[in-house]
Amino acid sequence: MGACYTTDAMPRTVDPLVIGPHEIWPPLVLAPMSGVTNRTMRALYRPFGLGLTVTEFVSSNALSYASTNRRTMEMIDQHGLEKPVATQLWGDDPELMARAARVVRECGADIVDINFGCPAPKVTKSNGGSACLRDVDRCEAIVRAVAAAVDCPVTIKMRLGWSEDALVYLEVAKRAQDAGARAVTLHARTARQFYKGEADWAHVARLKRAVDIPVIGNGDLADARVALQRMRESGADGIMLGRAALGNPWLISQIRDAMEGREPHAPPSAPDRLRYAIGVHFSAMVDELGERRAVPQMRRHLALYLKGMPNAAILRERIMRLDRAADVISVVETVIAALERPAAA
Ligand SMILES: Cc1cc2nc3c(=O)[nH]c(=O)nc-3n(C[C@H](O)[C@H](O)[C@H](O)COP(=O)(O)O)c2cc1C
Repeated sequence: MGACYTTDAMPRTVDPLVIGPHEIWPPLVLAPMSGVTNRTMRALYRPFGLGLTVTEFVSSNALSYASTNRRTMEMIDQHGLEKPVATQLWGDDPELMARAARVVRECGADIVDINFGCPAPKVTKSNGGSACLRDVDRCEAIVRAVAAAVDCPVTIKMRLGWSEDALVYLEVAKRAQDAGARAVTLHARTARQFYKGEADWAHVARLKRAVDIPVIGNGDLADARVALQRMRESGADGIMLGRAALGNPWLISQIRDAMEGREPHAPPSAPDRLRYAIGVHFSAMVDELGERRAVPQMRRHLALYLKGMPNAAILRERIMRLDRAADVISVVETVIAALERPAAA
């Protein structure tokens, strides 16, 4: 990684991630997370220091029907605030994937990402997601068809392989590169592992040595110092952050700080984190989705914002039973008051 400089003359510790015409700074990507990384979430978390966000995965089948439903269209819609955005597609049919890619490109995708990683049975039973890794020829055909269909970069996100005895990631990445992919993200687990065990970043390093296109490493990053270390040791051109950012967008800022050569800022106090959770995050979700849809989603987010706070488990349980936004806010305000009481006394 060469030496380069930020605008405020702090030495950058890593280079930008370049995907086709996009120079992505910082080289930090928010992982696609189904049911989570909707446009509200992407726009909220982007300013913390993300260079790129990815939509939830969208079924190429669903996009191919003339009467594509409102929820699917919502998934590929954007605020404009979170650009550049990669829109992620899944499916096993090259022709349908190409058709879906044209639709999402027309709807503003800056990058089309292909999902070769999802291990969920509802996806793999129709040969989508990580099930594609059982057929390397098909992976190649999908990338080739999608790359030919759109005038923007096409990328892939994958796991190591279907199972430990079939680690096909190097072959898939090389074939994808030849078929027109402009970057590859590796979640360094097999599909069979789901989320068990640890992501093995030695495979990210191997992938980096095997291909010429940019490599984005993913899996189990939860600390700024470790994230930078993994990136350096593997030689990855970018890193992707998923679960650890949920309820803790300040981790994104800490990683950006480290990438920009600054000492990572301390995260805000517990009361301030909760004020953000209800005053900014929850409020944006209610504005966009309405109370009925925002409250269940926000209950899950709040459980994560509460992580590590006193009585978090009891509070989580209380919040999980609430349906009205006002009730959720009132519980969190009580928590904030309780957290601040000893300091005020
Ligand atoms: C709730 C949830 C939903 C996910 N949905 C997607 C998805 O739509 N597409 C995808 O490629 N990966 C998806 N993933 C996987 C993540 O993008 C990421 O690869 C994985 O969580 C490992 O990164 P992490 O350890 O930083 O969380 C999902 C993960 C979670 C936890």
